[in-house]
Amino acid sequence: MKIALYQNSPVFGEIEQNIKEVSVAVKNEDFDILVLPELFATGYQFKNRDEALSLADKAGSGITFERIQQLAAQKDALIIYGFLEKKGKKLFNSAMAVDPSGNSFLYQKTHLFDTEKNIFNPGETGFFVFDYKEAKIGMMICFDWRYPESARKLALLGAQIICHPSNLVLSTCPDAMITRALENMVFTVTSDRVGLENRCGQPLKFTGKSRIISPQGKILAELGDIETGFIATEINPTDADNKAVTPNNHLFDDRRTEFY
Ligand code: ACM
Repeated sequence: MKIALYQNSPVFGEIEQNIKEVSVAVKNEDFDILVLPELFATGYQFKNRDEALSLADKAGSGITFERIQQLAAQKDALIIYGFLEKKGKKLFNSAMAVDPSGNSFLYQKTHLFDTEKNIFNPGETGFFVFDYKEAKIGMMICFDWRYPESARKLALLGAQIICHPSNLVLSTCPDAMITRALENMVFTVTSDRVGLENRCGQPLKFTGKSRIISPQGKILAELGDIETGFIATEINPTDADNKAVTPNNHLFDDRRTEFY
């Protein structure tokens, strides 16, 4: 199975242009799963909740969903992307997984970062795992990385590949994801963005360094901190089912949960 990501540099609010950047970049690429960054089509730094609401869609509708659904069908691939989700009076920082038949799975960011708390509601979906082709997939979004429980929960649910749309601003995350992969013996795909946003008098520089990491904590593919680009790697998802750390240590069965 070929897993891939695209590291973008969106122009704030230019949804059509930002979607087009991705479609053009992956036009001649081949993959089974493509992970795109958090809020990949809108940009990240909203002046306030009303501005964010004006760029939000209901889950399963809107131009971003329609275009990604078309792309997933064209490429015969699962595409996971971050978007602004409105639901009644609530606003979530969400990720959608869309398969080539149009089936979709929605995850809402559990751990909001810094001033995101002024804009979004905390996610309500919780962590879950779904099947795509021969793989078991879990999703978490950006700052969820800072809580080891996020990846651990997904791994305990049977995730083989953790897809991680991100807009990273803390430089420690790319290396921390090596630990998340290793401590759970899963593949991780962190799809980040690059560039700068300065819309509220507080410049945010996004770190890039998108990475695909193996269950042994090996970096299988990565990008730099200023470039946009596509990377992909061939994996066998069942490699993540082997939780033997040594012949005498099983990563999960040896946990002493009575002491935690
Ligand atoms: C982040 O959670 N986007 C830093």
